Parts: sequence; C-alpha cells; structure tokens
Amino acid sequence: MEQVTLGRTGLRVGVMGLGAGGHSRLGQSQGKSEANSIAVVRRALELGANLIDTAEAYRTEPIVGKALQEVPRDSYVLSTKKGPRANDKPISAADFRAGVDQSLQRLGLEYIDIFHVHGVKQHEYAHVREELVPVLLHLRDQGKIRWLGITESFSQETTHEMLVTALQDKVWDVMMVGFNLLNQSARDTVFPITQAENIGTLCMFAVRSALSDPAALKELTDKLAADGEIDLTGYNKDAPLDFLTAPGVAASVTEAAYRYCRHEPGIDVVLSGTGSVDHLEDNARSLQLPPLPQEALDRINKLFAGVDSVSGN
Ligand SMILES: NC(=O)c1ccc[n+]([C@@H]2O[C@H](COP(=O)([O-])OP(=O)(O)OC[C@H]3O[C@@H](n4cnc5c(N)ncnc54)[C@H](OP(=O)(O)O)[C@@H]3O)[C@@H](O)[C@H]2O)c1
Repeated sequence: MEQVTLGRTGLRVGVMGLGAGGHSRLGQSQGKSEANSIAVVRRALELGANLIDTAEAYRTEPIVGKALQEVPRDSYVLSTKKGPRANDKPISAADFRAGVDQSLQRLGLEYIDIFHVHGVKQHEYAHVREELVPVLLHLRDQGKIRWLGITESFSQETTHEMLVTALQDKVWDVMMVGFNLLNQSARDTVFPITQAENIGTLCMFAVRSALSDPAALKELTDKLAADGEIDLTGYNKDAPLDFLTAPGVAASVTEAAYRYCRHEPGIDVVLSGTGSVDHLEDNARSLQLPPLPQEALDRINKLFAGVDSVSGN
C-alpha cells in the first residue's frame, strides 16, 4: 500500500488506516466473533494499513491488543483515545491519567503511538487545554505516549469549531477530522491550517450510512433539499449520486466516497471501519485508485459544496 508521512510525527503509515470503532467496531456491533475481528486487524496489517485506531469507548482495545500480540512493535502505529468527560462532567486530570494506563493494560502495550482526546465538543475544549493537555505532556515525557491527538464530535458538531479553536494551540500533533463528499467544510476551515502547521490528519466519516446505504442517502438528500441546502435540479432525486457508478467513474458509491477523501489535499490517512475482510480488501483497493474524473468531482461539488450541517452518519 502507498505510504505517507503523518505530518510532524514523521511516522510512515499506509493511506488507509483501520478504524476499530464506528458503527461496526470490527464487526462486534453485529455480533461477529472475536476471531473474525482479529482476522480483520491482521489482514489490514498484511495489506499495509499499519495505522490502527481504537478507543476506550469502542471496547475493542482488548481485541486489537490480542491481534497485535507477536507483531513487531515498530511495524504498526497504534492510535487510541479517551473522552474528556465522565458521567457528563469534565473528567479530572487524575482519572484521565489513569485512563491512559488502563488503555495500555487493555492493549498489552508499553507505549501508545498517538493518544487522542476523544470526541471533544467546543464547550469542552478549555477544560481539555487547561487540565488534560498537561497530563498528556507528562505522559509523553514518561514515554507512555508518543504523540498528542484530538478528535471532534462530528456527528453532533458538523462545522469544526472545536478543531479550529484547538488549532490555535501548538500542542496537537495529529487531528482526526470529519470529512466526506457530503460535508466538505473542513477543506476551508481545517486543512489549510493543519497543512501549514504540519499536523498529521486522519479522515473519519469517509463512508457512513449515507454513503453505504442508498435509502439513507435518499433520506438525507430529501431533507437537505427540503431545507434548501441543496438543489437537486439535474440530479436523479431517487439516487442523486447515481452518476458516480456510470461507466468509467467508480464501481460503487462507497468506492467513489473513499477515493474522494483519499485525494483531498490535507488528508494523510483515510480511516475505514469494518468487520468484514471482504469490505476491508475492497476499501484498500478503492483507496489506491486514482482521483475520480473531474466531471464527477464537479457534479459532487456543485451539489454539496455549500453543505456543512450533516455528517452522513
Ligand atoms: N470522534 C471520533 O473520534 C470518531 C468518530 C467516528 C469514527 N472514528 C474512527 O474512524 C473510524 C472510521 O469511521 P468512519 O466514521 O469513517 O466509518 P465506520 O463507521 O467505521 O464505517 C463504515 C461503515 O460502512 C460499512 N462499510 C465499510 N466498508 C464497506 C464497503 N466496502 N461496502 C459496504 N459497506 C461498507 C461498515 O460496515 P461493515 O462492517 O459491514 O463493513 C461500517 O458500518 C472508526 O472506526 C473510528 O476508529 C472516530
């Protein structure tokens, strides 16, 4: 798989990263076996998707840890996270610190490559900066984590205010950003700054329900049209992205959606979450295909360029 450098971390990573969360949680949300989930992680590594993203909240750290046993430690990049709140209140520095140790234990690792504060909302950022960043810096000095990351709560805050605020601080090495063909707003608000600051950028939400389920796409585009956010004139109202599967464009909307993100300047790694080895292999193929034809890109952008109210969840 094509490798890229993850911003200022200097880490070399595959252009596809494996997400152990999302709707699938490596298939655990669909009741798939632990052996199946371990097989997905191992196949991702074989394919060169060497960045594996998990989180306390996904409850997949123990499975990822098992899958990584006996895998040379320098052959993959482990990313995990903990949220900034506990019981709906800001988490204390001590509990956050203890959470990092718990992640290390569940993963069976001595250090974590990228530790993110998970799903931070705008009103939580001041607490993150004042109370949790010092904890992360101390843990970095102790060698328990190597790089600091932050992720947004994209399905609830679709316009990136928190990340734009966080970008004013110089402590973040990696950011996980919601971006897909339905909501391209990070192109104007986030990527110019992450690129200028050489912050490693992980793309989440490349494909969620609306880009893997035609009924969910229709429901979303009907609502956007009713709210006056998009104009479906000239598009198929029942399947507005059908032009993406015309001959010479893409084999599926899902393939097109991954390719759209893969070639966005400012995105280093596109995360793909799945519990299926077949989907994983398809997605690895998609992410190594060339950019979509310009005409298809123009049609996508004409329809969605002004939309920043949805995540495609
Ligand atoms: N705030 C945050 O920090 C945050 C939020 C969201 C996600 N993430 C991270 O980002 C990763 C990726 O998340 P995401 O939001 O991009 O997506 P995601 O929720 O992991 O999933 C993609 C969805 O599409 C399905 N899918 C995948 N490949 C497919 C294919 N080829 N054909 C049809 N369906 C397919 C998957 O189900 P199958 O199992 O059936 O393939 C899954 O339900 C997560 O796993 C997580 O690690 C972080």
